[in-house]
Amino acid sequence: MEGSINILSLLSLLLIFSLAPLGWSANTNPKCAKSNYKDSSTVLQVLHVNSPCSPLRQHESSSWVDTVLQMQSKDTTRLQYLASLVAGRSFVPVASGRQVLQTPTYIVKAKIGTPPQTLMVALDNSNDLSWFPCSGCVGCSSTVFASAKSTTFNNVSCERAQCSLVPRRSCDAGTCTFNLTYGGSSIGGSLTEDTLTLATDPVPQFDFGCLQKTTGSSAPPQGLLALGRGPLSFMSQTQSLYQSTFSYCLPSYKSPNFSGTLRLGPNGQPKRIKTTPLLRNPRRSSFYYVNLVGVKVGRRIVDIPPSALAFNPNTGAGTIIDSGTVFTRLVEPAYTAVRNEFRRRMGRNTTVTSLGGFDTCYTVPVTIPTITLMFAGMNVTLPQDNFLIHSSSSSTTCLAMAASPADPVNSVLNVIASWQQQNHRILFDVPNSRVGVAREPCS
Ligand SMILES: *[C@@H]1O[C@H](CO)[C@@H](O)[C@H](O)[C@H]1NC(C)=O
Ligand SMILES: *[C@@H]1O[C@H](CO)[C@@H](O)[C@H](O)[C@H]1NC(C)=O
Ligand SMILES: *[C@@H]1O[C@H](CO)[C@@H](O)[C@H](O)[C@H]1NC(C)=O
Ligand SMILES: *[C@@H]1O[C@H](CO)[C@@H](O)[C@H](O)[C@H]1NC(C)=O
Ligand SMILES: *[C@@H]1O[C@H](CO)[C@@H](O)[C@H](O)[C@H]1NC(C)=O
Repeated sequence: MEGSINILSLLSLLLIFSLAPLGWSANTNPKCAKSNYKDSSTVLQVLHVNSPCSPLRQHESSSWVDTVLQMQSKDTTRLQYLASLVAGRSFVPVASGRQVLQTPTYIVKAKIGTPPQTLMVALDNSNDLSWFPCSGCVGCSSTVFASAKSTTFNNVSCERAQCSLVPRRSCDAGTCTFNLTYGGSSIGGSLTEDTLTLATDPVPQFDFGCLQKTTGSSAPPQGLLALGRGPLSFMSQTQSLYQSTFSYCLPSYKSPNFSGTLRLGPNGQPKRIKTTPLLRNPRRSSFYYVNLVGVKVGRRIVDIPPSALAFNPNTGAGTIIDSGTVFTRLVEPAYTAVRNEFRRRMGRNTTVTSLGGFDTCYTVPVTIPTITLMFAGMNVTLPQDNFLIHSSSSSTTCLAMAASPADPVNSVLNVIASWQQQNHRILFDVPNSRVGVAREPCS
């Protein structure tokens, strides 16, 4: 009974997720029609998928509790996907039968082909193969790339070097094809190329997957922009243009008019920014690994066994910064230590409740002002908005983190996720082997 009261008290937060009137779309909101940002060649707008400006916005008014639970379920699928990369397996267990809303979290506008066709694609910095649904695709959403209408579209033949970079590829009548899983979905298509334009720079002969088949609901409906480190990723293919350097500021989940920026290339990146070395795992080439060395709850450094945070290229253990997971996961001994310190600080007499996968929730105000992620050479002090999830009436508040799933693969990977990255600029500077983080109110 107590539990259900807590859940009801959270319903007030549904306001946050339903502020926009029904049917408000990119076309009817004047604010969305033209970007707030100067039309620069290297800066583009990043929207939360539930932004009033997002065409992928879910219009049915699901409650906040549902939304959170959905986000957590989606994270589970996401973690399975990340695990498949860590383990070097291509196929992963399909998510349990529960119906969940599975859409990407942050999207940007991409223009593909000649003349350009617009798709709202998911940002994914842990993936190397970009893909878009193509006309004729079985199981894709209705918004697809009509390749036949583009004069610059081409198939990529099996002999081309790019084909050898595609995971789970085969050769179909000379064309490079693939079948992959993404979270709980399977996707299949062929490797193709066409001009891709983000912001205003056209990238000719950009290699991407042209989807012909999808099952499941995990794959982003209008495609995916792969910002991983591997050789086929968008950043690798635009090496001469953007020098493997980009940054993003993910807008807040709380703000109704979510929008942030994706900034491509070294120009215009913050000069004064705290940085930590970027680690490279040749066996997991997509991931941006960093060295998380500790966590502070308030001012106190939590006692975490160093082995829980250690980078190990052989097992895939360590810490990655991921744009596609919503809530940070720490390996079990690390999470337990952080949570216990959090509970201790809240006072032993304060009743702890749980909500979904969150196990540290309160109906009294949380008095812990900050959590600090301590990386090698860089401390990132998170304000409450980056580690708490709470109702607008503030009657229940949860620590917005969880333990990594217990399976052998996920259990070694710490994932710094998007809730913790909101309103921060995260700079990925591969040439200088560093990741920068700076507070930036981008929403
Ligand atoms: C969000 O955008 C709408 C439409 O442009 C505007 O009327 C409203 O004031 C904005 N809300 C906030 C909190 O900025
Ligand atoms: C690409 O390959 C598909 C299937 O193999 C074929 O139907 C299509 O005509 C090809 N397109 C071009 C531009 O070569
Ligand atoms: C992908 O699946 C299709 C049928 O679902 C099959 O025809 C094709 O050979 C498969 N390709 C690969 C690379 O496994
Ligand atoms: C905790 O609760 C017990 C029993 O109600 C009480 O005696 C004690 O003083 C409380 N401790 C604190 C720190 O509030
Ligand atoms: C991070 O915080 C710890 C503990 O407060 C401190 O010892 C360390 O010097 C800080 N590191 C940096 C780079 O500021």
